Amino acid sequence: MIRIPFNRPYATGEEIDYIRAAIAAPKFSGDGSFTTQCHALLEQSLGIQKVLLTTSCTHALEMAALLLDIGPGDEVIVPAFTFPSALNAFVLRGARPVFVDIRADTLNIDENQIEQRTTNRTKAIFLVHYAGVGCEMDKIMAIARRHGIAVVEDNAHGLYGKYRGRYLGTFGQLATLSFHETKNFSCGEGGALLINDRNFNERAEILREKGTDRSKFFRGEVDKYTWVDVGSSYLPSDLLAAFLRAQLEHREQIQSMRRQIWETYACELASWAKTNGVRLPIVLPECEQSYHMFYAIMPSLESRQALISYLSGLGILAVFHYLPLHLSPMGLRVGGRQGDCPVTEDLAERLIRFPFFTGMSSSEQTLVIEAVHEFRC
Ligand SMILES: Cc1ncc(COP(=O)(O)O)c(C=O)c1O
Repeated sequence: MIRIPFNRPYATGEEIDYIRAAIAAPKFSGDGSFTTQCHALLEQSLGIQKVLLTTSCTHALEMAALLLDIGPGDEVIVPAFTFPSALNAFVLRGARPVFVDIRADTLNIDENQIEQRTTNRTKAIFLVHYAGVGCEMDKIMAIARRHGIAVVEDNAHGLYGKYRGRYLGTFGQLATLSFHETKNFSCGEGGALLINDRNFNERAEILREKGTDRSKFFRGEVDKYTWVDVGSSYLPSDLLAAFLRAQLEHREQIQSMRRQIWETYACELASWAKTNGVRLPIVLPECEQSYHMFYAIMPSLESRQALISYLSGLGILAVFHYLPLHLSPMGLRVGGRQGDCPVTEDLAERLIRFPFFTGMSSSEQTLVIEAVHEFRC
């Protein structure tokens, strides 16, 4: 029996009132008033000129690939340690991933290995701010500028995290968010595209609305709408936006609960980690993290597996994370080889994530911490 899940979805209590209001509204398909309110909340809090809610982070990434006109023959630089959605986005368009290894401290793409993997076919870098701790954006943006390539920040983990005082998601031409139930702010399934280059504004609306200029029509800017470009249906129902609005409005409360849980883990597990040769997460001084997850790097694959099964025997669900993408069945098909990304290959085997969710009670967390303290590597 699971006593402590890895994640438990959190609701502030106001979601249901907003959903009732959305049902009572004249429409609850996409781009209703709750969607507009979520756009405004995100634009204002992040200082971004345009945000578009999407049905998932995966779809926001697909929009990014379309907006950048990524196609056959193009190469896209990605960390070998990330979620497949970032790769599908451009592999679906016929482009090829170029895997770059990660840094051993933050588990983010190793900025010092990007330039040597850049060719005249490189179209973009799709990076992830792992666990909501920022990548080395100064260096990465400088490389991108030098080579004329775009940067897409997959910020599924990092909403409200900062790098050198600036919000994650505001560096690349485009960035994405996830509102999946495992994320800090959620509506079950959902995402957003953050547009930092206003040249993409008009086309992004079109791609999101099935390749039509329907958004312009709804604003009264054209008297009929028609098919003007490729596209798909990337906009969520206003019912989801109603749920999300309640979450975004409780930003302070949600983030402070998560911060408390993260800091308790860091403090209470420090001595256990030291005695057992375990490494806890590293947050560099230039980063303010988003308190998305709490992980540990165990001494070996065996000790990681042993800790997962020991905790599972106590009803506590701890989990591993991404498998090295270049060694996945699809990664091998697109050119990945064993040994290409040794840091990823090593750390992916040793990483464990502990239960971590908004609303986790202190007694639940104490159970996890006490259980971990009993485990010896
Ligand atoms: C880094 C990263 N990007 C993208 C995704 C996909 O998000 P979504 O489920 O909203 O499509 C995930 C999922 O967990 C993720 O971890």
